Amino acid sequence: MREYSEQMKKMLHKQYDAFADNVISKVSPQQNARVLEIGPGPGWGGISLLRKRPDLSLVGVEASPDMVEVATENARREGLESRARFLVEAGESMASIPDGQYDLVISRESLHHWADPKGVFKSISRVLKRDGRVCIYDHRRDLGLLGRLVVAVLGTLRAGKMAGHWKRSIAASYTSEEVRGMLDALGFDDWTVETDLMNLVVYRSYRASPKQVDISCCLPLTSTLSPKGRGNSSFSERQARYERISSGSPPVSDTREV
Ligand SMILES: C[S@@+](CC[C@H](N)C(=O)[O-])C[C@H]1O[C@@H](n2cnc3c(N)ncnc32)[C@H](O)[C@@H]1O
Repeated sequence: MREYSEQMKKMLHKQYDAFADNVISKVSPQQNARVLEIGPGPGWGGISLLRKRPDLSLVGVEASPDMVEVATENARREGLESRARFLVEAGESMASIPDGQYDLVISRESLHHWADPKGVFKSISRVLKRDGRVCIYDHRRDLGLLGRLVVAVLGTLRAGKMAGHWKRSIAASYTSEEVRGMLDALGFDDWTVETDLMNLVVYRSYRASPKQVDISCCLPLTSTLSPKGRGNSSFSERQARYERISSGSPPVSDTREV
């Protein structure tokens, strides 16, 4: 686990920094905000945010006890143990987290793992303060032509275990319309879903920036889905559609099929 954590830091430190920058520009965390992170894994995303914003404090809720151990150790090594705490807890329940405590909920590349994403969204809204903010980044399965090209090229250049893992994660991820559908079903019409070349972001902010989110050094392709999108689909349906697209079959739009 420690080896995995160090590998992630080495390979992805620029992406963790970009995630932190994007959270800051997207939802402008209030001064001294209490932040909750869902699925922090080794903790590097939240740690980067804490380094950039010394006024913030963070609690990470993480399903894997091993990850909690590693994230706790990483925060300690970075001198952040007084501001970062990690708990073994599923985002769906967050049983140990009281209602209305947090100013901001963040997450990076965890949404596609959640067994019950609508359950997690509901829990987020429970633990947030009334005007609390949300900023969740993940892969998107509804990649455009350019995005699929990036996957094909980088997937070949970075051949190996990580490339396979990356492609499987994209295959398991949601389309922006699926996420919009879940939020609509919950009545969360002040949560926004946006996409860029490779990723989607779900956010709620009282000072939403009209600025382009740059998650992965991409072209200006951001699109926003207003409420009343379509519903959810199962992991296998999502993966099958993605594989059809990747194999060069006719360009089927995920959004038309859902
Ligand atoms: C791909 S890793 C991403 C880790 C980290 N956010 C990063 O960007 O490096 C996904 C993490 O989400 C965690 N996870 C998955 N489902 C979860 C859930 N329902 N509640 C909390 N954590 C979850 C996993 O244990 C894993 O550590």
